[in-house]
Amino acid sequence: MLHIKTGKGNAEMVKKLLVKLNIFDRHNSVQQDKNFVYFPVNINNNDKLNIKKLLEKNGSKIIDMPGLENRNNTDRTSFDALRKKINTNSYDVLGNIAIVEIREPGIKKEEITDFANHIMKINKSIKTILMKEGPVEGIYRIRKVGYIAGKKTYIARYIENHCLFTFDVRKTFFSVRLSYERTRIMKQVKEGENIVVMFAGIGPFAIEIAKAKPHTDIIAIEINPYAYKQMVYNIKINKTGNVIPILGDVKKVYIKFKGFADRIVMPLPKISTDFLDEVLFVAKNECIVHMYSFVDIDNFDSVIDKIKKHAKENGYKVIILFKRKVRGYSVKEEEIVIDYKIIKHKC
Ligand SMILES: C[S@@+](CC[C@H](N)C(=O)[O-])C[C@H]1O[C@@H](n2cnc3c(N)ncnc32)[C@H](O)[C@@H]1O
Repeated sequence: MLHIKTGKGNAEMVKKLLVKLNIFDRHNSVQQDKNFVYFPVNINNNDKLNIKKLLEKNGSKIIDMPGLENRNNTDRTSFDALRKKINTNSYDVLGNIAIVEIREPGIKKEEITDFANHIMKINKSIKTILMKEGPVEGIYRIRKVGYIAGKKTYIARYIENHCLFTFDVRKTFFSVRLSYERTRIMKQVKEGENIVVMFAGIGPFAIEIAKAKPHTDIIAIEINPYAYKQMVYNIKINKTGNVIPILGDVKKVYIKFKGFADRIVMPLPKISTDFLDEVLFVAKNECIVHMYSFVDIDNFDSVIDKIKKHAKENGYKVIILFKRKVRGYSVKEEEIVIDYKIIKHKC
């Protein structure tokens, strides 16, 4: 069973992080020896590398060791059996709602309901279980979800980095799996920056930055009227008046923001590289860009080549600052992020 081994001095902070990442396994006991604490965790393979990197920063490690059950064993065994059968290692928790993904065909409805009820038993804050019923698709990047168990609602109330987000999971994109990225970027931002979030959704990137760095000015552009409406609401409840929400297509509204941005966030991995002209137009003479993209496994170069080609053709310089895999996306593809700096003037 996987555990996070951490020094006693860090234990409190690491536990908070594990709870926040929703990987702390409440079914098993925390163990300790003279110097270390061992937290039981549930981690799926897609997230393992990211979590490993995150934990390395404070000297913690993922290790495999026997677990100590602290709840009803029968409950746990049947939960594990169901989980194995259903072949899903994880489910996404958006506050009050959990969304499960069943990849195995032929699983009976009662088995899925059973699995759902177990999830609600383990995590008392989850009141509703929904199930993914298709891929993320269309311009608005939405997926179909169906109701499985618990209170019948599709409205999620989700907290991240001291910000509350509410939204209908059927009508807008939202991914808890980008939580690490939102935090990573938020931490890089300096007070006083002008920022453009080009594909803002219900506002998580913009609002979390705005809350942590209140002396920034942030333009958040979104094409889906429902997502825009919720972003307006989320700005209001989080009191982040330094975010200006714009309803529209980046291809059209970018024209209003010539040379505005110290930093541009591009969370539209499917086609973000189609917007390099708009990025250049909106960027100040020096500007940092966070570009998300889907690529064939480990092929960061395909995106970097596009960025460099565009720079060459348009007479500006780019410096690649950072790159990382964000998450697995399909058998062949993964989502990556590339941070780069635009320098417009000749050096
Ligand atoms: C992958 S989602 C990311 C949303 C949000 N940033 C987040 O992390 O939750 C991409 C968003 O871009 C929006 N979008 C797609 N094309 C757009 C365009 N041309 N202009 C503005 N928004 C667009 C979609 O409606 C969707 O909400």
